[in-house]
Amino acid sequence: MAKVEVDLATIPEGKNVIIKWRGKPVFVRHRTAAEIEEANSVKVESLRDPEQDADRVKKPEWLVMLGVCTHLGCVPIGEAGDYGGWFCPCHGSHYDISGRIRKGPAPLNLEIPAYDFPEEDKLIIG
Ligand code: FES
Repeated sequence: MAKVEVDLATIPEGKNVIIKWRGKPVFVRHRTAAEIEEANSVKVESLRDPEQDADRVKKPEWLVMLGVCTHLGCVPIGEAGDYGGWFCPCHGSHYDISGRIRKGPAPLNLEIPAYDFPEEDKLIIG
């Protein structure tokens, strides 16, 4: 299984990067304290695909997820949409700062791939 290594020291707080892994985009966001608070303030029962933010991350400041819309597979745009996260322009799905679906036709939250932090400032996807 191919793995990809990412140097997290190169990603400033409040920024996204897109890593290619097994032919798919993986979104890595270095979240701010305000974004983490926002992600945790959502009433999970009200979500279409109810998931706590804490169950979607290993470290709150790093959100790692597949950049593939769960509707029909387009690549959502970062820092866009009505919920401060991602927006899929194909049919208008809005994802929040935890990658959870909030509005539009997508049925599920953006998927979380296998990943790990083998050491400080290093991410391995896969
Ligand atoms: Fe994203 Fe349809 S593929 S909304």
